[in-house]
Amino acid sequence: MSTETAQDLHRGAPSGTPLLHADDLYAGYLPGINILQGCSLVLHPGELVGIIGPNGAGKSTLLKALFGLVNIREGSLTLKGEDITNKRADVLVRKGVGFVPQTNNVFPSLTIEENLQMGVFQTPKQFAKRVDAVFDMFPELGKRRRQRAGALSGGERQMVAMGRALMAEPSVLLLDEPSAGLSPVRQDEAFLRTRRINKAGVSVVIVEQNARRCLQICDRAYVLDQGRNAYSGPGRELMNDPKVIELYLGTLAADVEAEEAQATEVVGAVEAEETGTLGDLDAQRAVVDSSDEPVIIDDADPIEPEHAVDGGETQPRDKE
Ligand SMILES: Nc1ncnc2c1ncn2[C@@H]1O[C@H](COP(=O)(O)OP(=O)(O)OP(=O)(O)O)[C@@H](O)[C@H]1O
Ligand SMILES: [Mg+2]
Repeated sequence: MSTETAQDLHRGAPSGTPLLHADDLYAGYLPGINILQGCSLVLHPGELVGIIGPNGAGKSTLLKALFGLVNIREGSLTLKGEDITNKRADVLVRKGVGFVPQTNNVFPSLTIEENLQMGVFQTPKQFAKRVDAVFDMFPELGKRRRQRAGALSGGERQMVAMGRALMAEPSVLLLDEPSAGLSPVRQDEAFLRTRRINKAGVSVVIVEQNARRCLQICDRAYVLDQGRNAYSGPGRELMNDPKVIELYLGTLAADVEAEEAQATEVVGAVEAEETGTLGDLDAQRAVVDSSDEPVIIDDADPIEPEHAVDGGETQPRDKE
């Protein structure tokens, strides 16, 4: 166990019983080699908690351990106080945990609608109840429900993967790098969407490479390094912590002021977004250009569609 007190370990966390509590986890893939070496995390009801850290730190491994996909060798995992250590993923889905993996997160040969059906394959009656809500959340998908997921852009596939997880009405959503491989504009959309899902009542753990954006939108975050907790605290505090900046954000302390100004812009966009309702992504867009300039919300200036739509046929772009 870390020498830090529980308060330091989960700095800024609310009091009360966490929804999800990973305590001192050791886990790995190969015998005798632990990738997680005493990782801890709490997620309280309604929170959006980020996990950042260098490549290979164990971020994806931690999410997989939370979702029963990597064997937990030591430590414990509880959901609403109930022990779920090493419970299988399908059991966890029934208990209200959803997971969107970092890669290969759609069934490419299935249509959008069929992908969503896979999200409720254990409770097929739920499909009719949920599908409209998910298409309200992702109107772009609703319009093209019979299109194969393999023909979609990276951003759209990410929406399908999130939509599939949301079909089961999770109370906890685990997201592994929802912005990976997307253009800056699409990345910001992914963050705003995540925040919106969270505001709709889903508690979220999000792993992100885009550490600054992650810290801007999350309530609290953990920095993982070599399978251990390195830092934790409210997102905005970590963003301005010189040690975190130096070690993990790759920015000189002198840039903090500029970062702060940019964070204010993004948070402003998020707050503007929060006054909207689920499903109006077409109307409200967060627009940044490729140099990561401030976010602008402008109803009159929607983002160009990813695809040239012609008579219902679409021409997917190769890459985001
Ligand atoms: N299936 C696997 N079998 C064996 N080792 C693995 C496997 N998956 C990951 N690892 C190893 O575990 C370590 C942590 O990987 P993990 O994917 O959890 O890191 P990460 O923090 O998510 O990195 P990234 O930012 O690159 O996504 C790495 O050394 C990686 O090589
Ligand atoms: Mg990863």
